[in-house]
Amino acid sequence: MVKALAAQGWQVTATYRSSAPEVAAQWHALDMTHQDEVWQLATALQGDSFDAILINAGIAGPSQQNLLQSSDAELAQLCLTNAISPVRCAETLLPLLAKQNGVIDFTTLILGSLNENDAATMPIYSASKSALNMLSRALLPQVEAHNGTLLSLHPGWVKTDMGGESAPVTVEQSGEGLVQRLVAYRKRGGHHYVDYAGQLLQW
Ligand SMILES: NC(=O)c1ccc[n+]([C@@H]2O[C@H](COP(=O)([O-])OP(=O)(O)OC[C@H]3O[C@@H](n4cnc5c(N)ncnc54)[C@H](OP(=O)(O)O)[C@@H]3O)[C@@H](O)[C@H]2O)c1
Repeated sequence: MVKALAAQGWQVTATYRSSAPEVAAQWHALDMTHQDEVWQLATALQGDSFDAILINAGIAGPSQQNLLQSSDAELAQLCLTNAISPVRCAETLLPLLAKQNGVIDFTTLILGSLNENDAATMPIYSASKSALNMLSRALLPQVEAHNGTLLSLHPGWVKTDMGGESAPVTVEQSGEGLVQRLVAYRKRGGHHYVDYAGQLLQW
């Protein structure tokens, strides 16, 4: 998404945890689950105004996706990373959102929808994204107070470290599609759940 935004002329400020990718942006180190670091980032960016704030990082959780076989620590880390920290991060950074037509965008998952995931595929990972969807919804009044739009975007099944080699969607296809959705929805207001290709999803 950083590449796709930069290619369209956006000026991008981005964060990394382990190492900054070789992509032109203003990079800041951040572990999203360390709230003190999120406050430091907000302070460092004070005075700037952002047209969009994208919260993307996430983890898949325990590989066995079984509650009895997962430790409390694994489950707590999953909830903290996928549901709690993204929304805390967005809420902390919200004062930096432009006062008109700004977007708060979370990377969620189609499987986090109760309606789209009848078989409870990857239930633990999916539940963390269901929680993200609900906690994101609670931000809507603050986003609307900025005359902005709230997006919960599903990136597709993507060839990343998490998605694996069998995934049908490339990082470039997903990133470019997500940026298209961002641009298409940014003046609409409300909260929308959409995939990278533009398909509207049921909650
Ligand atoms: N790939 C898919 O098919 C797919 C499908 C649906 C949704 N998603 C969602 O898309 C997002 C990106 O996934 P991905 O496929 O790119 O996963 P990935 O290949 O595993 O990369 C995850 C990225 O998130 C970072 N990260 C993890 N925990 C972090 C934390 N506490 N603070 C800051 N950064 C952290 C990782 O940093 P490090 O490099 O330091 O580990 C890494 O850069 C996630 O929210 C995921 O749930 C992915």
